[in-house]
Amino acid sequence: MNTTVGVIGGGQLARMMIPAAVNLGIDIRVLAENEGMSAALAAFAVGDYRDREVVLAFAETVDVVTFDHEHVPQEILRLLVARGVAVHPGPDALLYAQDKLLMRERLTELGLPVPDWARVENSAELGVFLAGHGGRAVVKTARGGYDGKGVRLVSHEHDADDWFTALAEDGNDGALLVEELVEFRRELAQQVARRPSGEVAVWPVVETVQKDGVCAEVIAPAPLSEGRLAELAAEIAVRVADGIGVTGMLAVELFETTDGRLLINELAMRPHNSGHWSIEGSTTSQFEQHLRAVLDLPLGATTNRDPWSVMVNIIGGPMEGSLADRYPVALAEHPSAKVHNYGKAPRPGRKVGHVTVGGSDLDEVVYEARATAAVFQD
Ligand SMILES: Nc1ncnc2c1ncn2[C@@H]1O[C@H](COP(=O)(O)OP(=O)(O)OP(=O)(O)O)[C@@H](O)[C@H]1O
Ligand SMILES: [Mg+2]
Repeated sequence: MNTTVGVIGGGQLARMMIPAAVNLGIDIRVLAENEGMSAALAAFAVGDYRDREVVLAFAETVDVVTFDHEHVPQEILRLLVARGVAVHPGPDALLYAQDKLLMRERLTELGLPVPDWARVENSAELGVFLAGHGGRAVVKTARGGYDGKGVRLVSHEHDADDWFTALAEDGNDGALLVEELVEFRRELAQQVARRPSGEVAVWPVVETVQKDGVCAEVIAPAPLSEGRLAELAAEIAVRVADGIGVTGMLAVELFETTDGRLLINELAMRPHNSGHWSIEGSTTSQFEQHLRAVLDLPLGATTNRDPWSVMVNIIGGPMEGSLADRYPVALAEHPSAKVHNYGKAPRPGRKVGHVTVGGSDLDEVVYEARATAAVFQD
């Protein structure tokens, strides 16, 4: 069996694959952008994932290549495949996580539910979309956005002029994605894992709460989601995974609209913040499942260990010192909380860790998780 997994990207997602790999006796190697990154606990190389020689050399040391982020250029991914490297997810799938315009086009082709959208190349086209959608819309850069960067609420055709200018300066005949401003009751996320041989596994749909465009909390399962809603979310995610040929973990971010529909917001083809609760909350965590899936091993059970799991992100961290300085208080006052520290320097807005609490009383679980995370924040 092939047992060395190479992860491109050295952030917390790669880091959280490490314990799962250790338990299964899978070797994991990381190609990190810098020394001392979050995943530097594993055997790692340092190099630029945009440099083909660096990536090719790294790929020679592993049996399968997977990712902590979606930014490896298509040209390099295709070169790896041409050289016979197992790449999961492969470039044909990853394309739709790299480019939100291509993603919208493909999901529309597959007949999946998405917000009304259009490709716009200039302010006049944006104006036309606004006129047809009540004068308000959400504009997104097709590439490179994360944590709400590259997402803007607009109400005037000139509100995205700086982005049109930047695209023109880049020299690529770029376009922006514009979408209807979805009136949602809440945001949900559906995780699914898919093996190259086709087996899929889904977790219960979860509720995600965003603050300033950044994921702040996750409740698993999403309250009041049993029955048809959960079935529909799972069905959508499996149709995406099969339709696009995703291998490994896929997270489908969804809007539950005020009129009760589910619309796909975006896709992530890797373990995702909305699935961190599964480390303690599920029989098989998204990180273990990702490793199983990219190695084409049978997938694990996805039953919940607790009636409720709540994950709260630690964003920014303490103003002075490190997260660990707060352990004496946090661990003494919240013995049931599971604290995850990504080993990153605190900085405003940065995800530096998370807390998960499980239990049978949702109010209690939410309280504990928030109170624990608060100890690490000023
Ligand atoms: N069409 C829309 N209507 C209403 N709200 C939206 C819409 N698109 C995005 N949002 C809001 O903005 C947030 C960020 O958008 P999106 O997920 O596309 O961006 P991102 O920066 O790629 O996010 P991520 O942090 O998941 O990488 C969403 O979670 C949602 O709260
Ligand atoms: Mg998102």
